[in-house]
Amino acid sequence: MADWSGRDYSRVSSLQRTVAAETLAELVVDGAEWVLDIGCGDGFLTREIADRLPRGYIVGVDASPRMVGAAGEVGPSAPSGPVFVCADARRLPFATRFDMVVSFNALHWVPQLGDALAGIATVLRPGGRAVIQMVCGSARPSIESTAMKVAAGARWARYFDGFTAPFVHPEPAEFSALAERNGLRVDAVTVRDREWDFETTEQFTAWCTVGCTAWTDHIPEPERAAFVDDMVRAYEPLAGRPGLFRFMQLRAELHT
Ligand SMILES: C[S@@+](CC[C@H](N)C(=O)[O-])C[C@H]1O[C@@H](n2cnc3c(N)ncnc32)[C@H](O)[C@@H]1O
Repeated sequence: MADWSGRDYSRVSSLQRTVAAETLAELVVDGAEWVLDIGCGDGFLTREIADRLPRGYIVGVDASPRMVGAAGEVGPSAPSGPVFVCADARRLPFATRFDMVVSFNALHWVPQLGDALAGIATVLRPGGRAVIQMVCGSARPSIESTAMKVAAGARWARYFDGFTAPFVHPEPAEFSALAERNGLRVDAVTVRDREWDFETTEQFTAWCTVGCTAWTDHIPEPERAAFVDDMVRAYEPLAGRPGLFRFMQLRAELHT
Protein backbone atom coordinates (compact mmCIF):
# COMPACT_ATOMS: atom_id res chain seq x y z
CA MET A 1 0.00 0.00 0.00
CA ALA A 2 1.37 3.41 -0.95
CA ASP A 3 2.37 5.72 1.88
CA TRP A 4 1.53 9.32 0.92
CA SER A 5 3.35 12.22 2.54
CA GLY A 6 0.71 14.04 4.57
CA ARG A 7 2.78 17.21 4.88
CA ASP A 8 3.36 17.43 1.12
CA TYR A 9 -0.28 16.59 0.46
CA SER A 10 -1.41 19.51 2.62
CA ARG A 11 0.64 21.82 0.40
CA VAL A 12 -0.70 20.62 -2.95
CA SER A 13 -4.29 19.51 -2.31
CA SER A 14 -6.29 22.62 -3.32
CA LEU A 15 -7.87 20.57 -6.08
CA GLN A 16 -9.13 17.85 -3.73
CA ARG A 17 -10.30 20.41 -1.18
CA THR A 18 -12.21 22.37 -3.80
CA VAL A 19 -14.06 19.41 -5.31
CA ALA A 20 -14.95 18.08 -1.84
CA ALA A 21 -16.10 21.52 -0.65
CA GLU A 22 -18.88 21.49 -3.22
CA THR A 23 -20.21 18.21 -1.83
CA LEU A 24 -19.74 19.34 1.78
CA ALA A 25 -21.77 22.48 1.09
CA GLU A 26 -24.72 20.25 0.15
CA LEU A 27 -24.24 17.75 2.99
CA VAL A 28 -27.14 17.95 5.42
CA VAL A 29 -26.29 17.02 9.03
CA ASP A 30 -28.19 17.71 12.24
CA GLY A 31 -24.97 17.96 14.24
CA ALA A 32 -25.33 14.81 16.34
CA GLU A 33 -24.24 12.18 13.82
CA TRP A 34 -21.42 9.69 14.19
CA VAL A 35 -19.46 9.94 10.94
CA LEU A 36 -16.62 7.92 9.41
CA ASP A 37 -14.36 9.58 6.81
CA ILE A 38 -12.60 6.85 4.76
CA GLY A 39 -9.29 7.77 3.13
CA CYS A 40 -9.22 10.97 5.20
CA GLY A 41 -5.68 11.90 4.12
CA ASP A 42 -4.30 14.87 6.06
CA GLY A 43 -7.63 15.28 7.87
CA PHE A 44 -8.44 18.74 6.49
CA LEU A 45 -11.90 17.73 5.29
CA THR A 46 -12.49 15.59 8.39
CA ARG A 47 -11.99 18.70 10.52
CA GLU A 48 -14.37 20.70 8.36
CA ILE A 49 -17.05 18.09 9.02
CA ALA A 50 -16.16 17.93 12.74
CA ASP A 51 -16.99 21.64 12.98
CA ARG A 52 -20.52 20.80 11.90
CA LEU A 53 -20.99 18.07 14.52
CA PRO A 54 -21.17 19.86 17.88
CA ARG A 55 -23.03 16.92 19.44
CA GLY A 56 -21.61 14.26 17.17
CA TYR A 57 -18.36 12.48 16.53
CA ILE A 58 -16.12 11.84 13.54
CA VAL A 59 -13.36 9.31 12.88
CA GLY A 60 -10.93 9.72 9.98
CA VAL A 61 -9.35 6.51 8.73
CA ASP A 62 -6.50 6.22 6.23
CA ALA A 63 -4.12 3.43 5.23
CA SER A 64 -1.14 5.75 4.88
CA PRO A 65 0.80 6.14 8.16
CA ARG A 66 2.31 9.46 7.04
CA MET A 67 -1.13 10.86 6.20
CA VAL A 68 -2.54 9.83 9.57
CA GLY A 69 0.58 11.22 11.26
CA ALA A 70 0.06 14.59 9.56
CA ALA A 71 -3.67 14.56 10.37
CA GLY A 72 -2.86 14.13 14.06
CA GLU A 73 -0.26 16.91 14.03
CA VAL A 74 -2.73 19.76 13.68
CA GLY A 75 -2.97 20.26 17.43
CA PRO A 76 -5.31 18.96 20.08
CA SER A 77 -8.81 18.26 18.84
CA ALA A 78 -11.87 19.68 20.49
CA PRO A 79 -13.74 17.11 22.62
CA SER A 80 -15.97 16.36 19.65
CA GLY A 81 -13.10 16.78 17.20
CA PRO A 82 -11.83 14.07 14.90
CA VAL A 83 -10.05 10.93 15.93
CA PHE A 84 -7.63 9.57 13.32
CA VAL A 85 -6.94 5.89 12.82
CA CYS A 86 -4.52 4.15 10.48
CA ALA A 87 -6.40 1.31 8.77
CA ASP A 88 -7.23 -0.13 5.38
CA ALA A 89 -10.62 0.62 3.82
CA ARG A 90 -10.85 -3.06 2.87
CA ARG A 91 -10.66 -4.16 6.51
CA LEU A 92 -12.31 -1.48 8.62
CA PRO A 93 -11.60 -2.16 12.30
CA PHE A 94 -14.89 -0.87 13.72
CA ALA A 95 -17.73 -2.57 15.49
CA THR A 96 -19.35 0.87 15.79
CA ARG A 97 -22.41 1.56 13.72
CA PHE A 98 -21.97 5.00 12.14
CA ASP A 99 -24.82 7.24 10.99
CA MET A 100 -22.84 8.34 7.96
CA VAL A 101 -19.77 7.41 5.93
CA VAL A 102 -18.04 9.94 3.68
CA SER A 103 -15.11 9.35 1.38
CA PHE A 104 -13.43 11.92 -0.85
CA ASN A 105 -11.15 10.88 -3.69
CA ALA A 106 -9.78 7.86 -1.90
CA LEU A 107 -11.70 4.80 -3.05
CA HIS A 108 -10.37 4.86 -6.63
CA TRP A 109 -7.09 3.90 -4.91
CA VAL A 110 -8.68 0.65 -3.73
CA PRO A 111 -8.69 -1.86 -6.60
CA GLN A 112 -10.78 -4.21 -4.43
CA LEU A 113 -13.54 -1.59 -4.33
CA GLY A 114 -16.20 -4.23 -3.60
CA ASP A 115 -14.48 -5.10 -0.31
CA ALA A 116 -14.44 -1.42 0.69
CA LEU A 117 -18.13 -1.02 -0.18
CA ALA A 118 -19.01 -4.16 1.81
CA GLY A 119 -17.07 -2.68 4.75
CA ILE A 120 -19.05 0.55 4.49
CA ALA A 121 -22.34 -1.41 4.52
CA THR A 122 -21.15 -3.21 7.66
CA VAL A 123 -20.13 -0.14 9.66
CA LEU A 124 -23.31 1.80 8.84
CA ARG A 125 -26.34 1.48 11.08
CA PRO A 126 -29.52 0.34 9.33
CA GLY A 127 -30.72 3.35 7.34
CA GLY A 128 -27.30 5.02 7.58
CA ARG A 129 -26.05 7.15 4.67
CA ALA A 130 -22.84 7.18 2.63
CA VAL A 131 -21.53 9.88 0.31
CA ILE A 132 -18.66 8.77 -1.88
CA GLN A 133 -16.72 10.92 -4.27
CA MET A 134 -14.06 9.31 -6.44
CA VAL A 135 -12.58 9.25 -9.93
CA CYS A 136 -14.48 7.06 -12.37
CA GLY A 137 -13.94 5.73 -15.86
CA SER A 138 -14.15 7.59 -19.14
CA ALA A 139 -13.00 7.14 -22.73
CA ARG A 140 -10.25 9.72 -22.10
CA PRO A 141 -7.02 8.25 -20.69
CA SER A 142 -6.51 9.23 -17.05
CA ILE A 143 -3.31 10.33 -15.34
CA GLU A 144 -3.25 6.92 -13.63
CA SER A 145 -3.61 4.95 -16.88
CA THR A 146 -0.87 7.17 -18.30
CA ALA A 147 1.37 6.20 -15.36
CA MET A 148 0.71 2.52 -16.17
CA LYS A 149 1.75 3.10 -19.79
CA VAL A 150 4.92 4.91 -18.78
CA ALA A 151 5.74 2.15 -16.26
CA ALA A 152 5.43 -0.44 -19.03
CA GLY A 153 7.80 1.50 -21.33
CA ALA A 154 11.40 0.51 -22.09
CA ARG A 155 13.00 2.80 -19.49
CA TRP A 156 10.93 1.73 -16.49
CA ALA A 157 9.56 -1.77 -17.11
CA ARG A 158 12.36 -3.48 -15.13
CA TYR A 159 10.98 -1.92 -11.92
CA PHE A 160 7.41 -3.04 -12.57
CA ASP A 161 7.61 -6.77 -13.06
CA GLY A 162 4.27 -8.23 -11.92
CA PHE A 163 2.91 -4.78 -11.04
CA THR A 164 -0.87 -4.44 -11.24
CA ALA A 165 -2.86 -1.22 -11.45
CA PRO A 166 -3.11 0.34 -7.95
CA PHE A 167 -6.36 2.09 -8.86
CA VAL A 168 -9.85 1.39 -10.17
CA HIS A 169 -11.98 3.69 -12.33
CA PRO A 170 -15.41 2.04 -12.56
CA GLU A 171 -18.07 3.18 -14.99
CA PRO A 172 -21.03 4.69 -13.06
CA ALA A 173 -23.31 1.70 -13.81
CA GLU A 174 -20.54 -0.67 -12.73
CA PHE A 175 -20.12 1.30 -9.48
CA SER A 176 -23.84 1.14 -8.73
CA ALA A 177 -24.03 -2.60 -9.41
CA LEU A 178 -21.00 -3.21 -7.17
CA ALA A 179 -22.50 -1.12 -4.36
CA GLU A 180 -25.82 -2.99 -4.57
CA ARG A 181 -24.02 -6.35 -4.57
CA ASN A 182 -22.17 -5.33 -1.43
CA GLY A 183 -25.12 -4.35 0.71
CA LEU A 184 -25.71 -0.70 -0.20
CA ARG A 185 -28.75 0.92 -1.82
CA VAL A 186 -28.03 3.58 -4.41
CA ASP A 187 -29.99 6.85 -4.11
CA ALA A 188 -28.10 8.86 -6.72
CA VAL A 189 -24.95 8.73 -8.82
CA THR A 190 -23.76 11.79 -10.71
CA VAL A 191 -20.68 12.22 -12.85
CA ARG A 192 -18.94 15.44 -13.80
CA ASP A 193 -16.22 15.89 -16.36
CA ARG A 194 -13.86 18.21 -14.50
CA GLU A 195 -10.64 20.01 -15.09
CA TRP A 196 -8.14 21.74 -12.89
CA ASP A 197 -5.58 24.17 -14.20
CA PHE A 198 -2.33 23.86 -12.27
CA GLU A 199 -1.10 26.69 -14.54
CA THR A 200 2.44 25.39 -14.84
CA THR A 201 4.04 22.05 -15.59
CA GLU A 202 6.04 22.45 -12.35
CA GLN A 203 2.92 22.74 -10.18
CA PHE A 204 1.26 19.80 -11.91
CA THR A 205 4.48 17.80 -11.43
CA ALA A 206 4.54 18.67 -7.71
CA TRP A 207 0.96 17.40 -7.37
CA CYS A 208 1.72 14.21 -9.32
CA THR A 209 4.82 13.58 -7.20
CA VAL A 210 2.72 13.38 -4.03
CA GLY A 211 0.00 11.23 -5.56
CA CYS A 212 1.98 8.72 -7.58
CA THR A 213 3.93 6.99 -4.82
CA ALA A 214 2.18 3.73 -5.78
CA TRP A 215 4.50 3.82 -8.80
CA THR A 216 7.55 5.70 -7.55
CA ASP A 217 7.89 3.45 -4.47
CA HIS A 218 9.05 0.80 -6.97
CA ILE A 219 11.84 2.98 -8.36
CA PRO A 220 15.19 3.84 -6.73
CA GLU A 221 14.97 7.26 -5.13
CA PRO A 222 17.37 9.10 -7.52
CA GLU A 223 15.26 8.11 -10.55
CA ARG A 224 11.81 8.93 -9.19
CA ALA A 225 11.64 12.52 -10.42
CA ALA A 226 12.48 11.35 -13.95
CA PHE A 227 9.55 8.91 -13.85
CA VAL A 228 7.14 11.66 -12.80
CA ASP A 229 8.51 13.92 -15.56
CA ASP A 230 7.91 11.17 -18.13
CA MET A 231 4.39 10.72 -16.81
CA VAL A 232 3.59 14.44 -16.97
CA ARG A 233 5.08 14.70 -20.48
CA ALA A 234 3.03 11.71 -21.69
CA TYR A 235 -0.15 13.19 -20.18
CA GLU A 236 0.22 16.72 -21.59
CA PRO A 237 -1.08 15.99 -25.13
CA LEU A 238 -4.01 14.06 -23.64
CA ALA A 239 -5.14 17.00 -21.49
CA GLY A 240 -4.50 19.57 -24.20
CA ARG A 241 -2.05 21.99 -22.59
CA PRO A 242 0.72 22.06 -19.97
CA GLY A 243 -0.50 22.09 -16.38
CA LEU A 244 -4.06 21.07 -17.24
CA PHE A 245 -5.53 18.05 -15.45
CA ARG A 246 -8.82 16.47 -16.53
CA PHE A 247 -10.77 13.84 -14.64
CA MET A 248 -14.22 12.31 -14.29
CA GLN A 249 -15.61 12.77 -10.82
CA LEU A 250 -18.31 10.43 -9.57
CA ARG A 251 -20.48 11.28 -6.58
CA ALA A 252 -22.66 8.58 -5.11
CA GLU A 253 -25.28 8.87 -2.40
CA LEU A 254 -26.02 5.52 -0.82
CA HIS A 255 -27.79 4.05 2.20
CA THR A 256 -28.09 0.73 3.95
C1 LIG B 1 -6.20 11.86 -2.76
S1 LIG B 1 -6.05 11.42 -1.09
C2 LIG B 1 -7.60 12.02 -0.47
C3 LIG B 1 -7.50 12.51 0.95
C4 LIG B 1 -8.73 13.28 1.46
N1 LIG B 1 -9.92 12.45 1.46
C5 LIG B 1 -8.95 14.51 0.62
O1 LIG B 1 -9.90 14.53 -0.20
O2 LIG B 1 -8.17 15.48 0.77
C6 LIG B 1 -6.32 9.66 -1.15
C7 LIG B 1 -6.15 8.99 0.20
O3 LIG B 1 -6.62 7.64 0.12
C8 LIG B 1 -5.83 6.87 0.99
N2 LIG B 1 -5.97 5.45 0.68
C9 LIG B 1 -5.54 4.79 -0.42
N3 LIG B 1 -5.83 3.47 -0.33
C10 LIG B 1 -6.47 3.30 0.87
C11 LIG B 1 -7.01 2.18 1.54
N4 LIG B 1 -6.98 0.94 1.00
N5 LIG B 1 -7.57 2.36 2.75
C12 LIG B 1 -7.63 3.59 3.31
N6 LIG B 1 -7.12 4.70 2.73
C13 LIG B 1 -6.55 4.56 1.51
C14 LIG B 1 -4.43 7.40 0.74
O4 LIG B 1 -3.52 7.03 1.77
C15 LIG B 1 -4.69 8.89 0.65
O5 LIG B 1 -4.55 9.50 1.90
